[in-house]
Amino acid sequence: MHVRRYSLADRRGIIAHSSDCPDGERKKATMSKQKRKILVTSGLPYANGAIHLGHMLEYIQTDIWARFQRSQGHECYFAWADDAHGTPIMLRAEAEGVTPETLIARMNAEHQQDFIDFGLSYDNYSNTHDETNRECVETIYQRLNEGGYIDRRTISQFYDEEKGMFLPDRFIRGTCPRCKTEDQYGDSCEACGGTYSPTDLIDPRSAVSGTAPVMRDSEHFFVRLAGFEARLQNWMSSGKQQPGVVNKMQEWFEDGLRDWDISRDEPYFGFKIPGTDDKFFYVWVDAPIGYMSSFKELCERNNLDFDAWWKPDTDTEMYNFIGKDIVYFHTLFWPAMLMGAGYRTPTAVYAHGFLTVDGAKMSKSRGTFIMARTYLDHLNPDYLRYYYCARLGPGLADIDLSLDDFVARVNSDMVGKVINIASRCAGFIQRGSNGRLAAELPEPELYQRFIDQGEAIANDFEQRNYQAAIRRIMGLADEGNRYIDHHKPWQLNKQDDQQAKVQAICSQGINLFRVLITYLAPVVPFTAVKAAEFLGVAVDQWSDLDQPVLGVCINTFKPLMTRVDPVKIRAMVEASKQDLEISNVPATPVLDLADEITIDEFLKVDLRVAKIINAETVPEADKLLQLTLDIGGEIRNVFAGIKSAYDPADLVGRHIVMVANLKPRKMRFGLSEGMVLAAGSGAGGLFLLSPDAGATAGTRVT
Ligand code: 2FM
Ligand code: ZN
Repeated sequence: MHVRRYSLADRRGIIAHSSDCPDGERKKATMSKQKRKILVTSGLPYANGAIHLGHMLEYIQTDIWARFQRSQGHECYFAWADDAHGTPIMLRAEAEGVTPETLIARMNAEHQQDFIDFGLSYDNYSNTHDETNRECVETIYQRLNEGGYIDRRTISQFYDEEKGMFLPDRFIRGTCPRCKTEDQYGDSCEACGGTYSPTDLIDPRSAVSGTAPVMRDSEHFFVRLAGFEARLQNWMSSGKQQPGVVNKMQEWFEDGLRDWDISRDEPYFGFKIPGTDDKFFYVWVDAPIGYMSSFKELCERNNLDFDAWWKPDTDTEMYNFIGKDIVYFHTLFWPAMLMGAGYRTPTAVYAHGFLTVDGAKMSKSRGTFIMARTYLDHLNPDYLRYYYCARLGPGLADIDLSLDDFVARVNSDMVGKVINIASRCAGFIQRGSNGRLAAELPEPELYQRFIDQGEAIANDFEQRNYQAAIRRIMGLADEGNRYIDHHKPWQLNKQDDQQAKVQAICSQGINLFRVLITYLAPVVPFTAVKAAEFLGVAVDQWSDLDQPVLGVCINTFKPLMTRVDPVKIRAMVEASKQDLEISNVPATPVLDLADEITIDEFLKVDLRVAKIINAETVPEADKLLQLTLDIGGEIRNVFAGIKSAYDPADLVGRHIVMVANLKPRKMRFGLSEGMVLAAGSGAGGLFLLSPDAGATAGTRVT
């Protein structure tokens, strides 16, 4: 019989069908294949913290897309870097007693180990402190300057006299001018969500030294963004941008584009602005340029034509995958810098939503703030890659990693449907036919249906509608399993004269499995490698599916993916509760000691052991828990900013220490009658102080 069409490749112009082949036999003809040249990037992780599963959502999304493009025969590179500059990294290195260079080198190695172990197929991973990046940054700055896009003017900002530095907004704390909640950041309040300028804060303090900052003047460099407005509007309207991104941009255009402050005063870990002694480029200047310089390093290594990729009228494509919180930087600043410097702009910026775990923000106390390494210590990376893929859509919606659903979904789809087809067929081929597949497919139409779905699946991947692609693939997997159920090779196998039929059915099954695993190879690369070893053919090019694998021997089947063991999930969650090491959180500013006090002054503070008899969240406040405390016969209501670290249910019954004679404070949610004591401020973890077992409520603490 003739093998019928089977062609996935024709839609890309690789194979032409001839109308004079009525029996469906193909004539291959080389046509002009549209081979695309694509560069993809992920957002650059800061070099002062470990990678967690929130980061991995984006990197896996990017990697699936890059691998998918390569599976279509396109030339696709994935280049990115660590984001190495800025005040937090400078302070973090200082706190560790190392140079920033030492810190960022260590982080780079740690990050890359996580990425490799998660199967990320990047072509280059750099560091924004590298010389190639400095050259790119200086070129872009020089061209912007020559183009008249840079203004200089003096501005006044908070300055920490003790530390000798200007303070970024995030390093100023004070009382919210709107809701009066204490200890809020200089730019926004976590309790009421208000945004403001640091100068609006009541009683501002430096988070670095704890002292009250003063206002000081300094000259800054600004990019005149309004000069790019028409071109940015044009770029926005290319039809390639996500609708959610276009909406945000339209709002910003309506508000009017403000000049962008691109300079920072010393001390600052970054690149010095040419022609100045003490001014540095703001980290958000050199971070996205890191995409360009990382790719440039790749060009130098692989002999690619950098200029051809980055000229304005290039036929190459560039896609920046990012989180929805940094769209502003990527759709205004980044393309404006490129336009001003005469480079190409991103073909599209692809933003995704945030990750929640079990329906809530990742939480250290619940063990759902899971580091990449902790995950890898317990579970197969392909599980997470598959699960994220099955949940990701093309828009900006948040993605929930529900741990129960994760177990159910991976086990039912990957193990129970896809791998199951291979495992049900492999043994019969091995034992009954010495590993050899039949010479023909018994149901070529079924194989054809699998191939025919390839175009829609490819379109889903291309549009980043991964969940839709997975739905189609799993629909096919169901069909494959129904085929085997229907033909029952295990029954036929009992009859000696039915061996050829068993071989044919199982060869059909193995070929259906091959199609599925080829479609899934960008998603589960480790499993795909094992599947390729089993099949004896590569599974990384979809066009190879044009021909079923027939008449050849396959290899011994080994389990390609085992079921997710819920015990391991629990172990990972427990390990994550222990995982609060300093390296996983943003830099904790070095706090100097407060002013000296006498013992009499200290004794004015009435510290008491208190028992938590109730704990609840305050729906309107991101940081606060409402605690009902028993201090030995008297009940107190206290609002405590410990929500990020504690689940209210875990607190009830616990003994803690509180300041019992603090003047009651009226808050938006009610009266707060005291303060509970905790170590840390949230950035480096938050730890309630508790007495040893046996202490009773109301006991004075001295
Ligand atoms: O938000 C962040 O984590 C930044 N480090 C992302 C930078 S992306 C790009 F611009 F480099
Ligand atoms: Zn507020």
